[in-house]
Amino acid sequence: MDRLHLTDVSPRDGLQNQPLHVPTEGKLGLIERLVRAGVQSIEATSFVSPKAVPQMADAGEVVAGAHARFAGLRTSVLVPNLKGLERAHAAGAREIAVVLSATETMNLKNINMDLQQATEVSEQTVQAALALGLKARAYVAVAFECPFEGQTPLERVVALAQRMAEAGAHEVVIADTIGAAHPAQVRDRVRALTAVLPADQLAMHFHDTRGMGVANTWAAIEGGIRRFDASVGGIGGCPFAPGAAGNVATEDVVLLAQGAGLETGIDLMGLLDAVDHAEALLQRSLGGRSSAWLRRQREKAARSA
Ligand code: COA
Ligand code: ZN
Repeated sequence: MDRLHLTDVSPRDGLQNQPLHVPTEGKLGLIERLVRAGVQSIEATSFVSPKAVPQMADAGEVVAGAHARFAGLRTSVLVPNLKGLERAHAAGAREIAVVLSATETMNLKNINMDLQQATEVSEQTVQAALALGLKARAYVAVAFECPFEGQTPLERVVALAQRMAEAGAHEVVIADTIGAAHPAQVRDRVRALTAVLPADQLAMHFHDTRGMGVANTWAAIEGGIRRFDASVGGIGGCPFAPGAAGNVATEDVVLLAQGAGLETGIDLMGLLDAVDHAEALLQRSLGGRSSAWLRRQREKAARSA
């Protein structure tokens, strides 16, 4: 059966913007529930400046804990520069993700580098990771629209994606950081990207700010993409991109995949346990667009058991 490969980014994208501090054990509990639900790939944390993102200050402990408890789990960690790579490597990370935004202003706001510098640093960081024996994903962020510069030119997104692939990124993640993309645009951008890179080297990362997350995912599936980021419960958002809401929810994408006959290896009821755990950590109600319905299915199953 045709497969969809999902990376759950909730421990990183989901938690980086939360006002409540989540203890390391709570993060590992979230990862544990994701693993139990069948998630095979998780973006566990980020090695960024703890001044910029205090929630990620325990990145080393999260990586060490995740690897000690869940052998065989694919984990990636976001790193913005060589210092982040050094810290990630020391903590035992196996795969990094560099974060290159496709506009000048977004790079300046996010990592205090202009576009050229961010491109060069991302390239160097990918190459240095490979030299250390790590794998590298590369985000091309604000690949549809930038909160500061408006529509992002497609040619630039394609050029940056190619450059990251040439640097050695095995997966180039095209990110709709603020959730502004719509399906027709996704279809067009996927067509342009798959004309220069193999579909299997591309992943899509959608946010659900305008309710288009699932539709955008479908447009990308129709365009041949099989790798997606998603966040359980739909938590997420970049602290440096105003207006960004949560990621498309993992449970919504799994439900979409099931209906399309695409295997994910992920159990929806297991994901609900992860949503419950995230709700306890963040002390508010969470869940994708399907979660009220999923919860009713769980209650029905419990009654008939
Ligand atoms: N991890 C931890 N500390 C880091 C670091 C990293 N990856 N990179 C730099 N630092 C430290 C430096 O050692 C220095 O510390 P000091 O003040 O104790 O000497 C300090 O941060 C400033 O270093 P500098 O290189 O001047 O960085 P900066 O102030 O220009 O900030 C980043 C650049 C990339 C470190 C910062 O903007 C950042 O961490 N951004 C992350 C944004 C993010 O996570 N966005 C959400 C995900 S897309
Ligand atoms: Zn994101």
